[in-house]
Amino acid sequence: MGTRTEGLLGKLICVLLSCLMVMAAASSRATIMGKVSNTKFHHHSERLRRNLLANGLGKSPPMGWNSWNHFWCDINEDIVKAAADALVSSGLSKLGYEYVNIDDCWGEQVRDENGNLQAKNATFPSGIKALADYVHSKGLKLGMYSSAGYYTCSKQMPGSLGYEEQDAKTFASWGVDYLKYDNCYTDGSKPMDRYPIMTRALMKAGRPIYYSLCEWGDMHPALWGFQVGNSWRTTGDITDTFESVMSRADANEVYADYARPGGWNDPDMLEVGNGGMTKDEYIIHFSLWAISKAPLLLGCDVRNLTKDTMDIIGNKEVIAINQDPLGVQAKKVRTDVEIWTAPLSGYRFAVLIVNRDQWPANVTTHLEDFGIPPKTSVTARDLWEHKTLETPLAGNLSANLDPHTCKMYLLQPIS
Ligand code: GLA
Repeated sequence: MGTRTEGLLGKLICVLLSCLMVMAAASSRATIMGKVSNTKFHHHSERLRRNLLANGLGKSPPMGWNSWNHFWCDINEDIVKAAADALVSSGLSKLGYEYVNIDDCWGEQVRDENGNLQAKNATFPSGIKALADYVHSKGLKLGMYSSAGYYTCSKQMPGSLGYEEQDAKTFASWGVDYLKYDNCYTDGSKPMDRYPIMTRALMKAGRPIYYSLCEWGDMHPALWGFQVGNSWRTTGDITDTFESVMSRADANEVYADYARPGGWNDPDMLEVGNGGMTKDEYIIHFSLWAISKAPLLLGCDVRNLTKDTMDIIGNKEVIAINQDPLGVQAKKVRTDVEIWTAPLSGYRFAVLIVNRDQWPANVTTHLEDFGIPPKTSVTARDLWEHKTLETPLAGNLSANLDPHTCKMYLLQPIS
């Protein structure tokens, strides 16, 4: 009897233990599954949010012209129309320069009686809709400017804070294709709270509008901007000096990992052609912006382009690096003589060697430093000389550079 009871008790304990083990296994599986599905969910939801923003714009960095770096507030509709004409007649539009972007100072100081933004009558008498129609008739796109504050940065017109939906609708009704959104005269709230209000307003406005965030890199917009806009400024305002160009390129490089098709780091607009630098320095400026997948927004007077300026901004091979579908921003792989590289589609590589010093530099660098496997030989195309080097490279790449000059190559593995 005692043995039977013990036997029964033993069996019962066994059953209980098995039950407990099964329950424990099930619960830990549930925890693991929970984690997995949570991760999946987050991943998925991120993609969804991204897709919601993904207005189909900015698959490659935007190209065009903006009024600010040359004209500042001194703009009017004739200048904007002439800029559009010039992009077409110079052949630049065929190379991809499609946006004609009006910066600050286009509007009246006050809104109309319905609270709408209004074009400044003295300088834009035909209104923005007419200007958009004109720009569209040339096969180009129109960009506008506002601020996530009570005024724009010039303080000469109202900003969009508190009027996001109304202004987004106004822009859409005018046929606007691009909005640069500045960060002046705010209510003190964080850009990551303020900028998405305009994202949502634009989404509801019924027209795809490229959204360019301009909070100057203050709150590291590379970390959150991809859910909010198509590009984000990573720096304060550029000026027409070599030092300014280099410092903006450096600050922008820090965020290289965050750039991708649909969302780009923006080290500010181009100064090429504005007269403050040598041709070689402008070549460095343009090459850095191209390899960094920066927006290529011309900031000069495109109505009066010199041959030197055209040679630079019209360099198809360098533009192709910027517009490459892989969309990977270059990083510095060496800093004594600076070497910037980026992988490109088709197993190719872009390499930019910059001598930012005041004395000549000889540099020999290993292809392995660019992520090219050992023993690979590559053809090297010099993108400013427009020549392919006669002998394919194996192992090393050497260059001699005068002060403030650069060399830019497209490397293509052949064996
Ligand atoms: C800010 C921006 C500039 C320009 C001006 C206009 O400074 O960063 O790019 O738009 O405002 O006032």
